[in-house]
Amino acid sequence: MAKITLIQPDDWHLHLRDDSALATTVPAATRGFGRGIVMPNLKPPVTSVAEAKAYRDRIIANRPEGSNWEPLMVLYLTDNTRTEEIRAAADSGFIYGCKYYPAGATTNSDSGVTDIANIGDVLETMQEVGMVLQLHGEVTDETIDIFDREAVFIERHLINLVAQYPTLKIIFEHITTQQAANFVSSAGDNIAATITPQHLLYNRNHMLVGGIRPHLFCLPILKRDIHQKALIKAAVSGNKKFFLGTDSAPHTRDSKESCCGCAGCFSHPAAVELYAEVFDKAGAMDKLEAFASTNGPDFYNLPYNNTSISLKKESWEIPSSLPFDGSEIIPLAAGNKLSWRLES
Ligand code: DOR
Ligand code: ZN
Repeated sequence: MAKITLIQPDDWHLHLRDDSALATTVPAATRGFGRGIVMPNLKPPVTSVAEAKAYRDRIIANRPEGSNWEPLMVLYLTDNTRTEEIRAAADSGFIYGCKYYPAGATTNSDSGVTDIANIGDVLETMQEVGMVLQLHGEVTDETIDIFDREAVFIERHLINLVAQYPTLKIIFEHITTQQAANFVSSAGDNIAATITPQHLLYNRNHMLVGGIRPHLFCLPILKRDIHQKALIKAAVSGNKKFFLGTDSAPHTRDSKESCCGCAGCFSHPAAVELYAEVFDKAGAMDKLEAFASTNGPDFYNLPYNNTSISLKKESWEIPSSLPFDGSEIIPLAAGNKLSWRLES
């Protein structure tokens, strides 16, 4: 196969940051994608419909000329989120989900929810109006090892959450473990998961053996290879519960190559191709369209894009560094050779 054409994919989980960073991050997010679910973990976070609208306007102002790429906005849940805000979000026409960050779990999550019990009425309302809950599924209990935080979240919180809100639409974001893949596979149709390119391409040995590679550090952290294999199996299965969400999360080179480096991988410069490498290696190019282009819209009840993209078999190299907001950023898999290339 020398070329493959797909319904235009969407990215169901990404980070753009704000202000001058948008000049780099927005064009990068439009590369290959029709729409993107924009995470709200700004400083301060996007907690109201009015803030989401203003953020959306700033994003649109940075879209490349002629681009129809659509930002799908998200509200950030806090202990103080009111049910009226959820209803207003559902009526807004531009908000597609609410993000649950356990307070302190990751970048800019300090205002996140301190206890799920604090947002019971909000979850009830989301269930009623059909608003999607996007979950960062990790416990923050400091006695729990960082590599176990996702699996423990399932046992301590997710099982109860699904039982308590049986028709709430939940996306278990950026899953990283066999336990998460199994949980989602055996749950009802209202539970789905996104998977990042880094969790499909790498395991923790890639990050730590022979020297520490800060550009592979993200949260949830890369796990053992058995988990990587389970995620690949889920992604290439064609199962409609699993779909593309890059979690592309830009941080400058200095802030990652530091004594306390930030979590996040900037994958947008080659996102679609990185996924194509995984599917090709697994002999499953015929399943790439389901994962990248149709499973996500089906879950969100949105139409498929009426545009398409083509990938051709052509060797090229991901840039080793890119300019970013007056500084520098190192993309995921910087300097690596890829065998699929997006046709422009
Ligand atoms: O690695 C990550 N980076 N994980 C997250 O959950 C947040 C993200 C970010 O915003 O940088
Ligand atoms: Zn994220």
